[in-house]
Amino acid sequence: MEKTLVIIKPDGVKRGLIGNIIKRIEDKGYIISAMMMKQLSKEQLDQHYEEHKNKTFYPSLVSYMSSGNSLIMIVEGVNAIKGMRKIMGATDPIEAEPGSIRGMYGNNKTQNLIHGSDSLESAEREINLFFNSF
Ligand code: TYD
Ligand code: MG
Repeated sequence: MEKTLVIIKPDGVKRGLIGNIIKRIEDKGYIISAMMMKQLSKEQLDQHYEEHKNKTFYPSLVSYMSSGNSLIMIVEGVNAIKGMRKIMGATDPIEAEPGSIRGMYGNNKTQNLIHGSDSLESAEREINLFFNSF
């Protein structure tokens, strides 16, 4: 069993897609073991997205990610890290497979609905960041 950190981003919450997205995650056989609705602060996002802080898209990413509530979850299952990345689809929804969450619901490279940790190390770091500080 693996744990991964998943975030339904502000556009997913605002568009009323929480139910649809959670259905996809549960249909895949994963278990949601923790869940928290929260408007993320710039400080939390600076830590969460530290690998991207020098990118040109970073300011617009943080302003969007802090614009409203996000649903932050721990998702568990066999190969959950890779498996969640697969059902999320590619970062740019235009490139994402049509059957993936981003491919199905997204059309914007920044407002792309969902985050999932990309490795075991990221998953541990991100779970600690969001769930051990509350
Ligand atoms: P990244 O870690 O590359 O993608 P992923 O979420 O698939 O792991 O980038 C983090 C987030 O930054 C991405 O979900 C949306 C945003 N982003 C942009 O706004 N523009 C870009 O060109 C890229 C690569 C990412
Ligand atoms: Mg990433």
